[in-house]
Amino acid sequence: MQRVSGSVGDLDRARLFRQKAVTVWLTGLSGAGKSTLAYELERRLIGLGHPCYVLDGDNIRHGLGSDLGFSKEDRRENIRRVAHVARLMNDAGLIVIAALISPMNEDRAMAREIIGDERFVETYLSASVDDCARRDPKGLYAKARAGEIASFTGVSAPYEPPANPDLRVDTVGQSKEASVSGIFDHLNKAFLMKS
Ligand code: ADX
Repeated sequence: MQRVSGSVGDLDRARLFRQKAVTVWLTGLSGAGKSTLAYELERRLIGLGHPCYVLDGDNIRHGLGSDLGFSKEDRRENIRRVAHVARLMNDAGLIVIAALISPMNEDRAMAREIIGDERFVETYLSASVDDCARRDPKGLYAKARAGEIASFTGVSAPYEPPANPDLRVDTVGQSKEASVSGIFDHLNKAFLMKS
């Protein structure tokens, strides 16, 4: 089937919203700080009048991905669906902040392919399994290590750190504010326009 489009283009939306649409794809282990940084970044962007929205794995799995589990195939399908939603939101002109573990290189490459290279900022939240297990905000590492959760990323399922992320954020050695600023500054240089 052929795609259809109206006469409103990316440039019209970019002018309207004073931004180039982009997807900030946050990848990292459970407990690395994805949701925290995603919502802080969203608050900062909205505060400056930049339309944006967070697609968080934990929320997506209540609806769009409620039929999916944590096998390799299901994670891939989860990521594929979120990438298509991100693409649509980018087409609408919004900045998207996607917060998903997205543990495999090839699945993140698929997301980049779906969304488009120029709109995709792969952002690696580097925190080790031990750091995340020490924080264990949801008590999941304790459960996974006790064998109560199968295929848990970092414990009984793999996480492949991006070799060449567009951005790397150290969520262990620096403050939350510094981490958010690192991402914001990148967006500000390449995607945000002044009013
Ligand atoms: S992904 O691998 O498909 O990208 P996603 O980000 O959507 O994962 O979901 C991760 C969230 O699901 C975690 O933050 C955690 O709260 C929950 N979760 C439940 N079971 C698992 C598991 N086996 N592995 C990882 N996360 C899990």
